[in-house]
Amino acid sequence: MILLIKNGTIVTAEAQFVADIICRDGVIAQIGERLTVPTGAEIIDATGKYIFPGFIDPHVHIYLPFMGTFSKDDYITGSKAALMGGTTTLIEMCCPSCKDDPLEAIRLWKSKAAGISSCDYTFHMGVTQFGEGTAEALRKIVSEEGITSFKVFLAYKGAFGMEDYGLYQTLALASELGVVVTAHCENAELIAETQKRLLAEGKTGPEWHEPSRPIAVETEGCHHLMTFAEMTGAEVYVVHTSCIPAVEAITAARKRGVKAWIETVVPYLTLDSSDAELPDFEGAKYIMSPPLRAKEHGEFLWKCLADGTLNTVGTDHAPFDFSTQKTMGHPSADHCVDANSKLTGTPGNFSLIPNGIPSIEERVKLLYTEGVCQGRIDLQTLVRCASTQAAKIFGLYPRKGAIAVGSDADLVVWDPQWTGTISATTHSMATDYSAFEGRAVQGRAEVVTVRGKVMVRDGNWVGETGWGTFLRRELKT
Ligand code: URP
Ligand code: ZN
Ligand code: ZN
Repeated sequence: MILLIKNGTIVTAEAQFVADIICRDGVIAQIGERLTVPTGAEIIDATGKYIFPGFIDPHVHIYLPFMGTFSKDDYITGSKAALMGGTTTLIEMCCPSCKDDPLEAIRLWKSKAAGISSCDYTFHMGVTQFGEGTAEALRKIVSEEGITSFKVFLAYKGAFGMEDYGLYQTLALASELGVVVTAHCENAELIAETQKRLLAEGKTGPEWHEPSRPIAVETEGCHHLMTFAEMTGAEVYVVHTSCIPAVEAITAARKRGVKAWIETVVPYLTLDSSDAELPDFEGAKYIMSPPLRAKEHGEFLWKCLADGTLNTVGTDHAPFDFSTQKTMGHPSADHCVDANSKLTGTPGNFSLIPNGIPSIEERVKLLYTEGVCQGRIDLQTLVRCASTQAAKIFGLYPRKGAIAVGSDADLVVWDPQWTGTISATTHSMATDYSAFEGRAVQGRAEVVTVRGKVMVRDGNWVGETGWGTFLRRELKT
């Protein structure tokens, strides 16, 4: 398989220049001006287009048993949607329940992707309890299963949530092994108590989700993790950071010498708390945790991306249907009429709405439209935060996240002039709604390759289900 991509503007995290690229046997073989056409090569003319390294989404959920249901995508729909949006590598959160065996869990998550993923993928290993045998299992997951990052949840009490003892043990082990620990930082006790109080006060609609997990709850979570990182020497990565004080808690820890990376996700940059306040239960479409915040926080996050304070932008793609899953917290879901024709049950319950916003397909389009076109970030920042930085943090660089000789030929030919509208009627994700319905966007992935194979051409799917491979990672030396 030989591919010549001609005359495009190559954009990396560091530079921008016009050149041709030859891909051979799945890797980038040559980069230069006016390269000779190799015999048998397929030629793609990229004149007037950008060529980006394949984008990496460092935070997705494809298989997710959560809040009494399962996320809607599988690897067939999820990886196709990712590629249609220019994302060629997924890092999924493996989220076992606290009762599950960690080794069995990672093998189960791998089995959900094997043979059907169209893009390449790896996992962060969720550590949801720390008992006898956990350390040994985690060591095996690193050395035998090729997973070099963990995930802990400080939220979701009784489900994924980790107590302080387990948090300490996980970080201490990670520090010894050189594993990066990704973390969902919200204080579980504060959420549980605030949810109880609000529901008792009759505050049951989706608009009460944000007040049940206010900024202080996330900021405490970040500060908490930073203290544990400081005491154990672990390298940590805070996922889905939503607000100014949370960023400040992490940057303060950096000044104390804590090695901490900061991720935000595209919903916090492009939606805000008013979306979750929409009437008639529409707000449920926008329920995720930490919650969407007021607009000023989104603007701050953009500035932090531009100045390098924030390192990566993922999606936290956690797809649930509106009509059948988000409605688990709707009044009609738990009202019933008793023998005396009296209404029983509670009038809806925001804490039962499955948390998550589908966005795996829209991340790069939204970053380009709202970020690059609006002058909030430049092209190098786009590539850095949506591809290169994640590859570097999670041990995939320079195989991924780079346009360089020897790197995997994961490339995105981007048409900067294309304009369109986001809609659930045309997206490839399995969900019955889009949180960005009707949003005008500029720029799209016109051609997308994974290890030299064209998966998207002229913005249309031409890919092969199952082309994706598991990316075994080694510890950074
Ligand atoms: O609301 C969210 N974020 N749902 C997915 C699970 C998680 O916390 O990442
Ligand atoms: Zn989370
Ligand atoms: Zn998540």
